[in-house]
Amino acid sequence: MEMSKVLERVAEEAAQLRGAGMVMDYIPALAEVDPDHFGIALAELDGSVLGVGDWETPFSVQSISKVFTLALVLAGSDESFWQRVGREPSGSAFNSLVQLEHERGIPRNPFINAGALAVTDELISMVGDASGDLLAFLREESGNPDLEVDENVAASEAAHADRNLALAHFMASYGTLRNPVATVLDQYVRQCSIAMSCRDLALAALFLADRGFRRDGSALLSCRQAKRINAIMLTCGTYDAAGEFAYRVGVPGKSGVGGGILSVIPGRCAVAVWSPGLDKRGNSVVGMAALDHFTTLTGWSVF
Ligand code: DON
Repeated sequence: MEMSKVLERVAEEAAQLRGAGMVMDYIPALAEVDPDHFGIALAELDGSVLGVGDWETPFSVQSISKVFTLALVLAGSDESFWQRVGREPSGSAFNSLVQLEHERGIPRNPFINAGALAVTDELISMVGDASGDLLAFLREESGNPDLEVDENVAASEAAHADRNLALAHFMASYGTLRNPVATVLDQYVRQCSIAMSCRDLALAALFLADRGFRRDGSALLSCRQAKRINAIMLTCGTYDAAGEFAYRVGVPGKSGVGGGILSVIPGRCAVAVWSPGLDKRGNSVVGMAALDHFTTLTGWSVF
């Protein structure tokens, strides 16, 4: 079946669920988004991209940004980074505090909030303006020079950041962070508040489908590093629903509370989907169902 037909079929199926789930409200600006949006985009290794629905409408990428900050850190540092952050699934909520004390301030993986704060801290040490560096990278890879931090979302999250501040202070007490908590929080919030469309995200993630090669042909990551990020996406990218995501979708994926899910099909393409209604674990209900249909129709699950 032609890929445009596959996406149309996926969108038809998704339309039956449209509006399912709850828009996230602990970041008040995200609660203002219309829950009926749905978009899906697929980017192939040659840079061609197609989509259906609201695939060119920007939304808040939130935790999907964590994939890209991790890539930038791994591209510029050695393996010693892994002494400060684990790479095992957490089986607990993305903003949970409990594991951190048991594990003496070392976050379970780079995609739960605690781990992502530690990754951002590392990127700050490497480049200073971590979110600015990330934005420049995303503009280049997506080919969209207009990408911006949504300042309204950033201010809203910064004003409601008690949980992340608690995680960051707790890690700081164990020496996991090297920069001041306020700096790390500010940079983390800005990275999460970048607005991108499904089109932008699918294009920006192609390096993960293409053995670490950027769109200009240069290598951001080695083949082995790209493999490892994809593995962490599969095992940790949807938090305490990573088992369900593997069961239903079966490819590396990373969700965000803005309702986006980015998935990578190594050697083939990157697919981004967006629908703002979330399940209790913070993953897009319609997005998950759409990706389930997509990998079923194409047979492109890794399983
Ligand atoms: O730190 C937070 O809570 C948000 N900026 C990001 C959380 C998120 O997207 C979790 N993913 N499903």
